[in-house]
Amino acid sequence: PRPIFLTRHGESEDNVRGRIGGDPVLSEAGEKYALKLADFVHKRLKNESAASIWTSTLQRTGITARHIEEFPKVQWRVLDEINAGVCDGMTYEEIKQHMPEEYSARKADKLRYRYPRGESYLDVIQRVEPVIVELERQRSPVVVIAHQAILRSLYAYFMDKPLKEVPHIQVPLHTIIEIQMGVAGMQEKRYKLME
Ligand code: F6P
Repeated sequence: PRPIFLTRHGESEDNVRGRIGGDPVLSEAGEKYALKLADFVHKRLKNESAASIWTSTLQRTGITARHIEEFPKVQWRVLDEINAGVCDGMTYEEIKQHMPEEYSARKADKLRYRYPRGESYLDVIQRVEPVIVELERQRSPVVVIAHQAILRSLYAYFMDKPLKEVPHIQVPLHTIIEIQMGVAGMQEKRYKLME
């Protein structure tokens, strides 16, 4: 059976500053993760004649993939991070101060809350559907390098998590989640490559 590997991009400069959205490059730690990820893929998939690397169209995922040389890369716009609309580029603290109603509305119902001129988790869950269909059709391993909200949605689908849990699933940086269909249903393994 073909495994699916899910990982967030390496830490970005906005992750360091606590800013959401944007199209930043990687921090020094994020660059280090890109090297470790390539090494992991090289070793873990060395006996695979075919595999593919799927990224979003945001540069932090392409940069994270760039040391992986042996497999083709595919960019998906539907893998781009949740659109935070008017809050794009802000920190959670800034949203709390300048838009307290938005902050508390999201806190009260993170699944359904839609950022003004942006998206909700429900929107994202719907948006990633074509990627899920394609992932299920694959006969060889896929490494998906994407973003927190996107990976929560993909993970929840494959691991059969209830909708209400999706916005709260732990998908830490610098960790690869391997999902595989096993005899007893879906199996997962996590590889924490660095802090
Ligand atoms: O902070 C990184 C990030 O990917 C943001 O770009 C995005 O808005 C956020 O995570 C999604 O996580 P949450 O839904 O918990 O705010």
